[in-house]
Amino acid sequence: MTLQGEQTARWFQRASSVMPYGVSSNFRYWGDQDTLVIQRAQGAYLWDMDGKRYIDYRLGFGPVIIGHADAQINQAVAQAIQEGTLSAWTTPAEVELAERIIRLTGVEMVRLANSGTEATMQALRIARAHTGREKYIKFEGHYHGSADYFMFSTAAASLNMLGSPRSPIPAPMSSGMPAQIAETVIILPFNDLDLLERTIRARWGEIAAVFVEPVMGNVGGILPQENFLPTLRRLCDEYGIVLVFDEVKTGFRIAKGGAQEFFNIKADLVTYAKALGNGFPIAAIGGKREVMMTIAPGQVSQSGTYNGNTVAVAAALATLERFEKDPIHETLRQRGQSLMKGIDEVLTDHDITHALTGLPAMFGIFLGSSEPPRNFREYLKGNSALYAQLVRGLAQRGVLPDIDGREPWFLCAALSEADVQETLNVVNDTVRNLKERGKVN
Ligand SMILES: Cc1ncc(COP(=O)(O)O)c(C=O)c1O
Repeated sequence: MTLQGEQTARWFQRASSVMPYGVSSNFRYWGDQDTLVIQRAQGAYLWDMDGKRYIDYRLGFGPVIIGHADAQINQAVAQAIQEGTLSAWTTPAEVELAERIIRLTGVEMVRLANSGTEATMQALRIARAHTGREKYIKFEGHYHGSADYFMFSTAAASLNMLGSPRSPIPAPMSSGMPAQIAETVIILPFNDLDLLERTIRARWGEIAAVFVEPVMGNVGGILPQENFLPTLRRLCDEYGIVLVFDEVKTGFRIAKGGAQEFFNIKADLVTYAKALGNGFPIAAIGGKREVMMTIAPGQVSQSGTYNGNTVAVAAALATLERFEKDPIHETLRQRGQSLMKGIDEVLTDHDITHALTGLPAMFGIFLGSSEPPRNFREYLKGNSALYAQLVRGLAQRGVLPDIDGREPWFLCAALSEADVQETLNVVNDTVRNLKERGKVN
């Protein structure tokens, strides 16, 4: 059975004749019969072209933290654009947004951008300019956007591309990336403190930055082991390396102040996007004053025509206002905990070996072992084919996480207790059906 109803299929075919694979981003393609075309979104739901409703756990790959088409945010945007959308000058709203980001996260200065990739690219440049060094450390399975410099050993890689865990090799994610840039990245497994420490002590003179997703938002929400982030902080301080928290997924999601607040560790630079704008395109680079002031006109570039545009800034201001006014994060935590507990119980009742990973606001379901994975290699040993089957069954029944288990289940505050209950009933039906059809041993 395919996911596309008649109208959705028709629109997908139309899309495919004018857009490669019928999508505007590769990650959205689920195959010719299962890629959806969406008519509208509201609260925690999406509706496809056949009017079928889904409880949405992809939420645009994480941004929609309040809920789709939120009335207050839409109203703030509609009002703001009456005064113009782009002046290419500083605006009061932009200043207020920077102040609000600083207040919530503890960074000392901010520059705005439009997407996560822009923020990470520019953070890497700032770190290089700040240190006068060129290389950077990247952990396997971490995703920092679609710029060539970052697309090594990401979630798209398979185990046999990664080399030995003692000496990982950079596995390019795409054709079309210049071969030479592999020399600018040093790949390490996540959560391997010993190798991290040895590498930094041996090679610090070449290393501008360490990029880290503090929680692996692109591999099931794998958490850092207890000493990992504090040790990373200490080593970066010791060797003058810029520590970059890529909080494009964790920022404003796992806590108001993101991973810096959650783990009580300050990075030198932090990149934000996604939940900052509840689905409107906005990103930010924040960080310590000393590092941020490396940016200098004519010397160190950080720029963009649409940076700080009215639409994005109004949306972000309205989103952050909600974090301060309403108990958004507490709601996400409660709903997420109920879901994680309920899913755990269903899988246990049906004797399916599994572990829940991540945090309530962005969690993962790992099938194939009861030990939660500590890094990308362990994750790749799980049963991703079974996970995809599970998601196909859930989607048919109107519950929509991503088909790739590396993508966490994201929650939005519009998700109700009743939605959680409905989701758990659907998980139960789907798992029972898979068992009955002999799809699971
Ligand atoms: C941690 C992280 N960094 C950077 C990016 C890139 O963001 P964008 O897709 O907005 O360019 C992503 C996107 O998923 C991400 O998860």
